[in-house]
Amino acid sequence: MVLRRVLASAALVAGSAATNFAQFSSSGYGLSVNVPSDTASSGSGSIYLQISAPSGTQWIGFGQGSQMSGSNMLVVYASDSSNVTVSPRLGANHVEPKLNSDAQVSVLEGTGIDSNGNLVANIRCDSCLSWSGGSMDPTDSSSKWIYAYKSGDALDSTSTSADITQHDSNGEFKLDLTTGTGGSSSNPFFASSDDSSSTAAAGTTGTATATGTHATAPGSDITGSVSSSAATATSTSGVSSPLTSSSPSSTGDEVESDPNKGTRTAHAILMPLVFVVLFPLSALTIYLPYQEKVRRVHAPLQVVSIILMLVGLGMGVKLANKLGEIDGYHQVVGFVVVAWMVIFQPALGLAQHLNFRRNGTRSPMGHGHRWVGRAMMLLGIVNGGLGFMQAGKVGSEETPTYAVIVYSVVAVVIFIIYLAVVIFAPALAARKNASRGAVTEKPIRPKSQGYEMHSRAADQRA
Ligand SMILES: *[C@@H]1O[C@H](CO)[C@@H](O)[C@H](O)[C@H]1NC(C)=O
Repeated sequence: MVLRRVLASAALVAGSAATNFAQFSSSGYGLSVNVPSDTASSGSGSIYLQISAPSGTQWIGFGQGSQMSGSNMLVVYASDSSNVTVSPRLGANHVEPKLNSDAQVSVLEGTGIDSNGNLVANIRCDSCLSWSGGSMDPTDSSSKWIYAYKSGDALDSTSTSADITQHDSNGEFKLDLTTGTGGSSSNPFFASSDDSSSTAAAGTTGTATATGTHATAPGSDITGSVSSSAATATSTSGVSSPLTSSSPSSTGDEVESDPNKGTRTAHAILMPLVFVVLFPLSALTIYLPYQEKVRRVHAPLQVVSIILMLVGLGMGVKLANKLGEIDGYHQVVGFVVVAWMVIFQPALGLAQHLNFRRNGTRSPMGHGHRWVGRAMMLLGIVNGGLGFMQAGKVGSEETPTYAVIVYSVVAVVIFIIYLAVVIFAPALAARKNASRGAVTEKPIRPKSQGYEMHSRAADQRA
């Protein structure tokens, strides 16, 4: 704190018009916040925000708070080929954030789309320290923020309530607002040519007054870089240069934009392993030419599959809760499939096994175990696809193309193996029995051969 005060006063001495910014940037998506001295000392008033995004961005949103629900958000998208729309929204769980008609937001000069296609919005916000759902202390040294963006075609909408579709990527970070405190400019992002007090009329001159620190999300993943600088940059096109791209301390930092990445990746490896590989291959062990296969092979392997599935479920629930997606399609289908696999599938299997021991036949429980089990495996595999779709569009950072290709190829290969075994194994077993002379007694009863691959007769021989 002392050091920051010294730096802040040093900045004030060095240049009377210097304005400080607390900054965050990740993959070209940037936020610079200035808290005017008056706002900092009185605890109320305006703050200034610059939101910038690279060319190809459909929308970018920054929000105050640590989660979408109750977050005070500013969403920026193209209004036409040269300017942007700033839409204040209130975050809600599960649904697209709605226009916040109570917000008091002014779009300032220097806002627009620059010659490189960057979206830049210079904003004065008079309702960013207190809003319905939360508040922010302008002297908070670890204020909480979230952000999300989506790449794609420009929305080209001047409406502040334009429909925005689900984000490609999102994250959270903390800003030390004290590093962005100072000045009294009515537009700290834009120096008009007739503004004689401006220290920087053109270009990207600026002085860093504090070195950047990494913002850490709960769970310790680095979510971006935060820095403070004093810079007033204006390009000749009338659109401000994105401050975060010219800030010396915010470039070149290793940026990890997604605090959920570890959990999501683990979930996306474990669940496909269970549904695409373990369940089907363990199901096929029922065709092994070994009498104790159900008790010694099939059932124990499926118990392992179920335990791994429950671990994967735990990760999925954790992710869904963080994203407010606990009732999404992927989640609901997942709950149904997991419930079946944990409760009914083993119960039916056990019932059939006991029935077989007693009667040597396949019971309705056996049919259910086989056919509903197969349907649930398929549903689980399809649900993996829904999971990929929910994480992000194919080719995005969250859903890399190779992951979808590997998933599909392995699923098809296992499907072919499964079909081949199911079709050919009974015939092979029958031929083997025939060559042993087993058929001299009586032909294998189709009812029993379908379940445990040895007939009742084979049981008695053993
Ligand atoms: C974009 O709109 C804002 C607010 O209406 C205005 O101040 C700014 O000059 C416009 N930018 C361009 C490049 O036209």
